Amino acid sequence: MNWNPASWREKNAGQQPTYTDPQALKATEEKLSNLPPLVFAAEARDLRKQLGQVAKGEAFLLQGGDCAESFADFSANNIRDSFKVMLQMAVVLTYAGRLPVVKVGRLAGQFAKPRSSDLETIDGISLPSFRGDIINGINFDNAARIPDPNRMLEAYHQSTATLNLVRAFAQGGLADLHQVNQWNRSFVDNNPLREQYRQIAERIEDALEFMAVCGIDGNNTPSLHQTDLYTSHEALLLNYEEALTRRDSQTDKWYDCSGHMLWIGERTRELDGAHLEFFRGIHNPVGVKVGPGISEDELIRLIDALNPDNEAGRLTLITRMGANVLAEKLPALARRVHAEGRSVVWSSDPMHGNTIKASSGYKTRSFDSILLEIKQFFSVLRSESEHPGGIHLEMTGQAVTECTGGAYAISDADLAQRYHTQCDPRLNGDQVLELAFCIADFLRKP
Ligand code: PEP
Ligand code: CO
Repeated sequence: MNWNPASWREKNAGQQPTYTDPQALKATEEKLSNLPPLVFAAEARDLRKQLGQVAKGEAFLLQGGDCAESFADFSANNIRDSFKVMLQMAVVLTYAGRLPVVKVGRLAGQFAKPRSSDLETIDGISLPSFRGDIINGINFDNAARIPDPNRMLEAYHQSTATLNLVRAFAQGGLADLHQVNQWNRSFVDNNPLREQYRQIAERIEDALEFMAVCGIDGNNTPSLHQTDLYTSHEALLLNYEEALTRRDSQTDKWYDCSGHMLWIGERTRELDGAHLEFFRGIHNPVGVKVGPGISEDELIRLIDALNPDNEAGRLTLITRMGANVLAEKLPALARRVHAEGRSVVWSSDPMHGNTIKASSGYKTRSFDSILLEIKQFFSVLRSESEHPGGIHLEMTGQAVTECTGGAYAISDADLAQRYHTQCDPRLNGDQVLELAFCIADFLRKP
Protein backbone atom coordinates (compact mmCIF):
# COMPACT_ATOMS: atom_id res chain seq x y z
CA MET A 1 0.00 0.00 0.00
CA ASN A 2 1.36 3.37 -1.01
CA TRP A 3 0.95 5.04 2.38
CA ASN A 4 3.03 6.68 5.08
CA PRO A 5 2.09 8.71 8.17
CA ALA A 6 2.69 11.92 6.18
CA SER A 7 0.89 10.96 2.96
CA TRP A 8 -2.18 12.96 4.06
CA ARG A 9 -0.14 16.08 3.28
CA GLU A 10 -0.69 15.46 -0.46
CA LYS A 11 -4.46 15.77 0.04
CA ASN A 12 -6.81 18.53 0.93
CA ALA A 13 -7.20 18.74 4.73
CA GLY A 14 -10.30 20.47 6.06
CA GLN A 15 -10.57 22.23 9.42
CA GLN A 16 -6.81 22.69 9.97
CA PRO A 17 -5.25 25.74 11.63
CA THR A 18 -2.93 28.03 9.70
CA TYR A 19 0.26 28.10 11.73
CA THR A 20 2.18 31.29 11.17
CA ASP A 21 5.65 30.05 12.09
CA PRO A 22 6.54 26.94 10.04
CA GLN A 23 9.86 26.50 11.85
CA ALA A 24 8.21 26.42 15.28
CA LEU A 25 5.65 23.94 13.93
CA LYS A 26 8.36 21.67 12.58
CA ALA A 27 10.31 21.79 15.86
CA THR A 28 7.18 20.80 17.81
CA GLU A 29 6.35 17.96 15.43
CA GLU A 30 9.88 16.63 15.83
CA LYS A 31 9.68 16.83 19.59
CA LEU A 32 6.33 15.05 19.63
CA SER A 33 7.51 12.31 17.34
CA ASN A 34 10.32 11.51 19.77
CA LEU A 35 8.06 11.33 22.82
CA PRO A 36 6.71 7.97 24.02
CA PRO A 37 3.43 6.70 22.56
CA LEU A 38 0.37 7.36 24.74
CA VAL A 39 -1.09 3.90 24.15
CA PHE A 40 0.31 0.62 22.90
CA ALA A 41 -0.62 -1.05 19.65
CA ALA A 42 -1.54 -4.26 21.48
CA GLU A 43 -4.17 -2.38 23.49
CA ALA A 44 -5.67 -0.95 20.31
CA ARG A 45 -5.79 -4.50 18.93
CA ASP A 46 -7.62 -5.70 22.07
CA LEU A 47 -10.18 -2.97 21.63
CA ARG A 48 -10.56 -3.85 17.96
CA LYS A 49 -11.27 -7.44 18.97
CA GLN A 50 -13.88 -6.35 21.51
CA LEU A 51 -15.50 -4.10 18.94
CA GLY A 52 -15.63 -7.14 16.68
CA GLN A 53 -17.91 -8.68 19.30
CA VAL A 54 -20.01 -5.52 19.31
CA ALA A 55 -20.37 -5.77 15.51
CA LYS A 56 -21.73 -9.29 15.98
CA GLY A 57 -24.21 -8.26 18.66
CA GLU A 58 -22.23 -9.96 21.44
CA ALA A 59 -21.22 -6.80 23.32
CA PHE A 60 -22.32 -3.17 23.64
CA LEU A 61 -20.21 -0.03 23.14
CA LEU A 62 -20.42 2.87 25.59
CA GLN A 63 -18.41 5.84 24.37
CA GLY A 64 -18.54 9.20 26.07
CA GLY A 65 -16.87 12.22 27.57
CA ASP A 66 -16.43 15.94 27.04
CA CYS A 67 -17.16 17.61 23.74
CA ALA A 68 -13.75 19.21 24.17
CA GLU A 69 -11.25 18.60 26.95
CA SER A 70 -9.82 21.80 28.30
CA PHE A 71 -6.52 22.92 29.79
CA ALA A 72 -8.29 25.10 32.38
CA ASP A 73 -10.72 22.42 33.66
CA PHE A 74 -8.08 19.74 34.00
CA SER A 75 -8.33 18.17 37.45
CA ALA A 76 -8.26 14.78 39.13
CA ASN A 77 -11.81 15.26 40.43
CA ASN A 78 -13.12 15.95 36.97
CA ILE A 79 -11.53 12.80 35.55
CA ARG A 80 -12.64 10.74 38.54
CA ASP A 81 -16.25 11.87 38.22
CA SER A 82 -16.43 11.13 34.50
CA PHE A 83 -14.85 7.74 35.11
CA LYS A 84 -17.31 6.94 37.92
CA VAL A 85 -20.37 7.83 35.91
CA MET A 86 -19.16 5.75 32.93
CA LEU A 87 -18.80 2.74 35.25
CA GLN A 88 -22.20 3.35 36.80
CA MET A 89 -23.81 3.44 33.36
CA ALA A 90 -21.88 0.38 32.24
CA VAL A 91 -23.16 -1.69 35.17
CA VAL A 92 -26.77 -0.80 34.37
CA LEU A 93 -26.32 -1.51 30.65
CA THR A 94 -24.47 -4.78 31.27
CA TYR A 95 -27.20 -6.01 33.55
CA ALA A 96 -30.04 -4.87 31.31
CA GLY A 97 -28.59 -6.07 28.03
CA ARG A 98 -26.93 -9.21 29.41
CA LEU A 99 -23.93 -8.20 27.35
CA PRO A 100 -20.42 -7.05 28.21
CA VAL A 101 -20.05 -3.29 27.83
CA VAL A 102 -16.94 -1.96 26.09
CA LYS A 103 -16.08 1.38 27.67
CA VAL A 104 -14.36 4.05 25.60
CA GLY A 105 -13.79 7.58 26.92
CA ARG A 106 -13.70 10.73 24.83
CA LEU A 107 -10.59 11.71 26.75
CA ALA A 108 -6.81 11.94 26.86
CA GLY A 109 -6.74 13.62 23.44
CA GLN A 110 -10.19 15.09 22.69
CA PHE A 111 -8.91 18.63 22.20
CA ALA A 112 -9.38 19.71 18.55
CA LYS A 113 -12.73 21.01 17.30
CA PRO A 114 -14.10 21.49 13.80
CA ARG A 115 -15.93 24.80 13.42
CA SER A 116 -18.73 25.86 11.12
CA SER A 117 -17.04 29.22 10.48
CA ASP A 118 -13.37 30.24 10.29
CA LEU A 119 -14.17 33.53 12.00
CA GLU A 120 -16.11 34.52 15.09
CA THR A 121 -17.62 37.99 15.14
CA ILE A 122 -18.62 39.83 18.31
CA ASP A 123 -19.71 43.49 18.27
CA GLY A 124 -18.33 43.97 14.78
CA ILE A 125 -14.91 42.51 15.62
CA SER A 126 -13.90 39.32 13.77
CA LEU A 127 -11.23 36.95 15.05
CA PRO A 128 -10.22 33.40 14.08
CA SER A 129 -12.61 30.89 15.68
CA PHE A 130 -11.58 28.91 18.73
CA ARG A 131 -10.56 25.43 17.49
CA GLY A 132 -9.85 23.68 20.79
CA ASP A 133 -7.09 24.07 23.37
CA ILE A 134 -4.66 22.00 21.31
CA ILE A 135 -4.77 24.75 18.65
CA ASN A 136 -5.59 28.19 20.11
CA GLY A 137 -7.10 29.91 23.17
CA ILE A 138 -10.80 30.39 23.91
CA ASN A 139 -10.49 34.04 25.03
CA PHE A 140 -11.82 36.48 22.50
CA ASP A 141 -8.61 38.38 21.89
CA ASN A 142 -6.26 38.44 18.97
CA ALA A 143 -3.23 36.91 20.69
CA ALA A 144 -5.20 33.98 22.16
CA ARG A 145 -6.69 33.07 18.81
CA ILE A 146 -3.37 32.71 16.98
CA PRO A 147 -2.67 28.97 16.54
CA ASP A 148 0.31 27.98 18.67
CA PRO A 149 2.10 24.66 17.96
CA ASN A 150 3.32 24.46 21.58
CA ARG A 151 -0.26 23.70 22.55
CA MET A 152 0.19 20.26 20.98
CA LEU A 153 2.86 19.51 23.58
CA GLU A 154 0.64 20.72 26.39
CA ALA A 155 -2.22 18.53 25.10
CA TYR A 156 0.14 15.58 24.92
CA HIS A 157 1.31 16.05 28.51
CA GLN A 158 -2.22 16.54 29.82
CA SER A 159 -3.18 13.34 28.01
CA THR A 160 -0.36 11.39 29.67
CA ALA A 161 -1.50 12.56 33.11
CA THR A 162 -5.13 11.77 32.31
CA LEU A 163 -4.26 8.29 31.10
CA ASN A 164 -2.10 7.66 34.12
CA LEU A 165 -4.98 8.46 36.45
CA VAL A 166 -7.53 6.51 34.43
CA ARG A 167 -5.30 3.44 34.44
CA ALA A 168 -4.88 3.76 38.22
CA PHE A 169 -8.64 4.09 38.74
CA ALA A 170 -9.37 1.13 36.48
CA GLN A 171 -6.94 -1.22 38.19
CA GLY A 172 -6.71 0.21 41.70
CA GLY A 173 -10.12 -0.51 43.23
CA LEU A 174 -12.32 2.40 42.13
CA ALA A 175 -13.97 0.04 39.65
CA ASP A 176 -15.19 -2.38 42.34
CA LEU A 177 -18.66 -3.50 41.26
CA HIS A 178 -20.15 -3.42 44.78
CA GLN A 179 -19.03 0.15 45.16
CA VAL A 180 -20.28 1.13 41.72
CA ASN A 181 -23.69 -0.28 42.51
CA GLN A 182 -23.70 1.55 45.86
CA TRP A 183 -23.25 4.79 43.92
CA ASN A 184 -26.16 3.75 41.74
CA ARG A 185 -28.27 3.08 44.83
CA SER A 186 -27.66 6.56 46.13
CA PHE A 187 -28.35 8.03 42.68
CA VAL A 188 -31.69 6.21 42.64
CA ASP A 189 -32.57 7.07 46.26
CA ASN A 190 -32.06 10.77 45.60
CA ASN A 191 -33.77 10.85 42.23
CA PRO A 192 -37.27 12.31 41.77
CA LEU A 193 -38.08 9.32 39.53
CA ARG A 194 -36.69 6.81 42.02
CA GLU A 195 -39.61 4.37 41.80
CA GLN A 196 -38.94 3.90 38.10
CA TYR A 197 -35.27 3.04 38.55
CA ARG A 198 -35.13 1.30 41.92
CA GLN A 199 -35.86 -2.19 40.62
CA ILE A 200 -32.78 -2.47 38.41
CA ALA A 201 -30.38 -1.22 41.10
CA GLU A 202 -31.87 -3.67 43.60
CA ARG A 203 -31.64 -6.57 41.21
CA ILE A 204 -28.00 -5.85 40.52
CA GLU A 205 -27.35 -5.80 44.25
CA ASP A 206 -29.13 -9.15 44.61
CA ALA A 207 -27.01 -10.63 41.84
CA LEU A 208 -23.81 -9.42 43.50
CA GLU A 209 -24.89 -10.79 46.89
CA PHE A 210 -25.74 -14.12 45.35
CA MET A 211 -22.33 -14.31 43.69
CA ALA A 212 -20.62 -13.40 46.98
CA VAL A 213 -22.42 -16.25 48.75
CA CYS A 214 -21.20 -18.58 46.03
CA GLY A 215 -17.65 -17.44 46.75
CA ILE A 216 -17.24 -15.24 43.67
CA ASP A 217 -15.67 -11.94 44.71
CA GLY A 218 -13.02 -9.41 43.77
CA ASN A 219 -10.28 -11.53 45.36
CA ASN A 220 -10.76 -14.50 43.05
CA THR A 221 -12.47 -12.75 40.13
CA PRO A 222 -10.55 -9.67 38.98
CA SER A 223 -13.35 -8.52 36.65
CA LEU A 224 -15.50 -7.71 39.71
CA HIS A 225 -12.82 -5.34 40.90
CA GLN A 226 -11.03 -4.00 37.83
CA THR A 227 -11.96 -2.78 34.41
CA ASP A 228 -10.63 -1.36 31.14
CA LEU A 229 -11.40 2.11 29.95
CA TYR A 230 -10.08 2.79 26.47
CA THR A 231 -9.38 6.26 25.07
CA SER A 232 -10.64 7.92 21.91
CA HIS A 233 -10.87 11.29 20.20
CA GLU A 234 -11.62 12.91 16.87
CA ALA A 235 -8.30 12.72 15.03
CA LEU A 236 -8.79 16.15 13.50
CA LEU A 237 -5.39 17.82 13.89
CA LEU A 238 -3.30 15.71 11.56
CA ASN A 239 0.07 17.21 12.51
CA TYR A 240 -0.45 15.86 16.04
CA GLU A 241 -1.74 12.48 14.88
CA GLU A 242 1.09 11.97 12.40
CA ALA A 243 3.69 12.70 15.08
CA LEU A 244 2.22 10.03 17.37
CA THR A 245 1.90 7.38 14.66
CA ARG A 246 4.38 4.58 15.20
CA ARG A 247 5.19 1.24 13.62
CA ASP A 248 4.36 -1.63 15.96
CA SER A 249 7.39 -3.85 16.48
CA GLN A 250 5.28 -7.00 16.90
CA THR A 251 3.26 -6.76 13.71
CA ASP A 252 5.18 -4.18 11.69
CA LYS A 253 1.91 -2.29 11.20
CA TRP A 254 1.27 1.42 11.78
CA TYR A 255 -0.80 2.56 14.75
CA ASP A 256 -1.78 6.04 15.77
CA CYS A 257 -0.66 5.82 19.39
CA SER A 258 -2.39 9.05 20.49
CA GLY A 259 -5.45 7.00 21.55
CA HIS A 260 -6.92 3.53 21.24
CA MET A 261 -9.75 4.48 18.89
CA LEU A 262 -9.89 7.49 16.58
CA TRP A 263 -12.77 8.86 14.58
CA ILE A 264 -13.33 11.18 11.63
CA GLY A 265 -15.88 13.95 12.10
CA GLU A 266 -18.89 14.64 9.93
CA ARG A 267 -17.16 17.67 8.41
CA THR A 268 -13.91 16.03 7.34
CA ARG A 269 -14.92 12.70 5.86
CA GLU A 270 -14.52 13.51 2.14
CA LEU A 271 -13.54 10.40 0.24
CA ASP A 272 -10.41 11.92 -1.28
CA GLY A 273 -9.58 14.15 1.69
CA ALA A 274 -6.57 14.10 3.99
CA HIS A 275 -8.38 12.50 6.93
CA LEU A 276 -9.47 9.48 4.90
CA GLU A 277 -5.93 9.17 3.57
CA PHE A 278 -4.47 9.20 7.08
CA PHE A 279 -7.02 6.77 8.50
CA ARG A 280 -6.68 4.16 5.79
CA GLY A 281 -3.11 3.45 6.87
CA ILE A 282 -3.49 3.14 10.64
CA HIS A 283 -4.58 -0.15 12.18
CA ASN A 284 -6.46 1.18 15.21
CA PRO A 285 -10.18 0.62 15.42
CA VAL A 286 -11.67 3.69 13.76
CA GLY A 287 -14.99 5.48 13.62
CA VAL A 288 -16.67 7.87 11.25
CA LYS A 289 -19.57 10.21 11.97
CA VAL A 290 -22.52 9.74 9.65
CA GLY A 291 -24.91 12.66 9.27
CA PRO A 292 -28.28 12.80 7.50
CA GLY A 293 -26.85 14.11 4.21
CA ILE A 294 -24.91 10.99 3.24
CA SER A 295 -26.13 8.88 0.31
CA GLU A 296 -26.20 5.09 0.33
CA ASP A 297 -23.47 4.88 -2.33
CA GLU A 298 -21.28 7.35 -0.49
CA LEU A 299 -21.65 5.35 2.71
CA ILE A 300 -20.59 2.12 1.00
CA ARG A 301 -17.57 3.86 -0.55
CA LEU A 302 -16.65 5.27 2.86
CA ILE A 303 -16.92 1.84 4.46
CA ASP A 304 -14.81 0.26 1.74
CA ALA A 305 -12.14 2.95 2.00
CA LEU A 306 -11.82 2.50 5.77
CA ASN A 307 -12.40 -1.24 6.05
CA PRO A 308 -11.42 -2.82 2.72
CA ASP A 309 -11.06 -6.29 4.27
CA ASN A 310 -14.52 -6.07 5.86
CA GLU A 311 -13.20 -7.00 9.31
CA ALA A 312 -15.63 -6.86 12.23
CA GLY A 313 -14.43 -4.30 14.80
CA ARG A 314 -12.30 -2.16 12.51
CA LEU A 315 -15.05 0.35 11.71
CA THR A 316 -17.73 2.01 13.81
CA LEU A 317 -20.38 4.09 12.06
CA ILE A 318 -21.50 6.80 14.47
CA THR A 319 -24.87 8.10 13.31
CA ARG A 320 -25.76 11.69 14.28
CA MET A 321 -28.88 12.74 12.49
CA GLY A 322 -31.32 14.20 14.97
CA ALA A 323 -34.49 12.74 16.45
CA ASN A 324 -37.07 12.03 13.73
CA VAL A 325 -34.56 12.75 10.93
CA LEU A 326 -32.84 9.49 11.88
CA ALA A 327 -36.05 7.52 11.56
CA GLU A 328 -36.39 8.88 8.04
CA LYS A 329 -32.78 8.53 6.81
CA LEU A 330 -31.29 5.54 8.61
CA PRO A 331 -33.53 2.71 7.31
CA ALA A 332 -32.32 2.88 3.69
CA LEU A 333 -28.67 3.20 4.77
CA ALA A 334 -28.88 0.26 7.16
CA ARG A 335 -30.71 -1.83 4.56
CA ARG A 336 -27.98 -1.18 2.00
CA VAL A 337 -25.16 -1.99 4.44
CA HIS A 338 -26.97 -5.20 5.36
CA ALA A 339 -27.65 -6.17 1.74
CA GLU A 340 -24.00 -5.63 0.81
CA GLY A 341 -22.82 -7.69 3.78
CA ARG A 342 -20.56 -5.02 5.29
CA SER A 343 -19.63 -5.66 8.91
CA VAL A 344 -19.72 -2.50 11.02
CA VAL A 345 -20.46 -1.40 14.55
CA TRP A 346 -23.49 0.89 14.54
CA SER A 347 -23.32 3.45 17.32
CA SER A 348 -25.70 6.33 18.05
CA ASP A 349 -24.47 9.85 18.75
CA PRO A 350 -27.80 11.40 19.77
CA MET A 351 -26.15 14.73 20.61
CA HIS A 352 -24.94 16.48 17.46
CA GLY A 353 -28.18 16.29 15.48
CA ASN A 354 -30.18 17.72 18.38
CA THR A 355 -28.35 20.95 19.18
CA ILE A 356 -30.63 23.98 19.41
CA LYS A 357 -30.28 27.57 20.56
CA ALA A 358 -32.31 28.23 23.71
CA SER A 359 -34.23 31.47 24.04
CA SER A 360 -31.62 32.44 26.65
CA GLY A 361 -29.01 32.28 23.86
CA TYR A 362 -27.23 29.15 25.10
CA LYS A 363 -26.59 26.18 22.80
CA THR A 364 -28.47 23.28 24.35
CA ARG A 365 -30.01 19.84 23.75
CA SER A 366 -33.05 18.37 25.39
CA PHE A 367 -32.97 15.10 27.28
CA ASP A 368 -36.15 14.00 25.49
CA SER A 369 -34.82 14.47 21.96
CA ILE A 370 -31.59 12.66 22.92
CA LEU A 371 -33.56 9.73 24.29
CA LEU A 372 -35.89 9.75 21.30
CA GLU A 373 -33.02 9.53 18.80
CA ILE A 374 -31.56 6.57 20.70
CA LYS A 375 -34.95 4.83 20.74
CA GLN A 376 -35.37 5.34 17.01
CA PHE A 377 -31.82 4.10 16.42
CA PHE A 378 -32.59 0.82 18.20
CA SER A 379 -35.87 0.35 16.46
CA VAL A 380 -34.63 1.13 12.92
CA LEU A 381 -31.59 -1.13 13.17
CA ARG A 382 -33.57 -4.00 14.61
CA SER A 383 -36.10 -3.69 11.77
CA GLU A 384 -33.23 -3.85 9.27
CA SER A 385 -31.66 -6.91 10.96
CA GLU A 386 -28.58 -4.96 12.06
CA HIS A 387 -27.30 -4.69 15.65
CA PRO A 388 -27.72 -1.41 17.52
CA GLY A 389 -24.20 -1.67 18.90
CA GLY A 390 -23.58 1.34 21.07
CA ILE A 391 -24.03 4.94 22.12
CA HIS A 392 -21.70 7.91 21.86
CA LEU A 393 -22.41 10.73 24.31
CA GLU A 394 -21.15 14.16 25.30
CA MET A 395 -21.26 13.95 29.06
CA THR A 396 -19.52 14.81 32.29
CA GLY A 397 -19.71 13.59 35.87
CA GLN A 398 -20.05 17.21 37.00
CA ALA A 399 -23.36 18.81 37.98
CA VAL A 400 -23.43 21.20 35.02
CA THR A 401 -26.58 22.74 33.51
CA GLU A 402 -26.00 22.52 29.77
CA CYS A 403 -28.73 20.17 28.47
CA THR A 404 -32.37 20.70 29.40
CA GLY A 405 -34.80 18.16 30.86
CA GLY A 406 -34.29 14.93 32.79
CA ALA A 407 -35.73 14.05 36.18
CA TYR A 408 -34.61 17.39 37.62
CA ALA A 409 -36.34 19.23 34.77
CA ILE A 410 -33.54 21.64 33.91
CA SER A 411 -35.14 24.52 32.04
CA ASP A 412 -33.82 27.13 29.60
CA ALA A 413 -33.72 29.57 32.50
CA ASP A 414 -31.47 27.20 34.52
CA LEU A 415 -28.79 26.94 31.83
CA ALA A 416 -26.94 30.05 33.05
CA GLN A 417 -26.30 28.49 36.49
CA ARG A 418 -23.48 26.10 35.60
CA TYR A 419 -22.85 26.27 31.88
CA HIS A 420 -19.15 25.32 31.73
CA THR A 421 -18.56 23.54 28.44
CA GLN A 422 -15.80 24.76 26.11
CA CYS A 423 -17.85 23.72 23.13
CA ASP A 424 -21.09 21.68 22.94
CA PRO A 425 -23.58 21.11 25.82
CA ARG A 426 -23.03 17.90 27.80
CA LEU A 427 -25.40 15.70 29.78
CA ASN A 428 -24.58 16.02 33.47
CA GLY A 429 -23.95 13.08 35.83
CA ASP A 430 -27.61 12.69 36.81
CA GLN A 431 -28.95 13.06 33.29
CA VAL A 432 -26.55 10.59 31.76
CA LEU A 433 -27.23 7.94 34.42
CA GLU A 434 -30.92 8.46 33.99
CA LEU A 435 -30.41 7.92 30.27
CA ALA A 436 -28.71 4.59 31.03
CA PHE A 437 -31.68 3.51 33.15
CA CYS A 438 -34.07 4.51 30.34
CA ILE A 439 -32.04 2.64 27.71
CA ALA A 440 -32.01 -0.40 30.01
CA ASP A 441 -35.73 -0.65 29.37
CA PHE A 442 -35.36 -1.41 25.70
CA LEU A 443 -31.81 -2.73 25.49
CA ARG A 444 -32.72 -6.34 26.01
CA LYS A 445 -33.78 -7.82 22.68
CA PRO A 446 -37.56 -7.83 22.27
C1 PEP B 1 -18.07 16.01 18.06
O1 PEP B 1 -18.17 14.79 18.23
O2 PEP B 1 -17.80 16.80 18.99
C2 PEP B 1 -18.34 16.56 16.69
C3 PEP B 1 -17.81 17.70 16.30
O3 PEP B 1 -19.19 15.80 15.99
P1 PEP B 1 -19.58 15.80 14.44
O4 PEP B 1 -18.32 15.54 13.66
O5 PEP B 1 -20.53 14.65 14.36
O6 PEP B 1 -20.22 17.11 14.12
CO1 CO C 1 -19.47 18.12 20.21
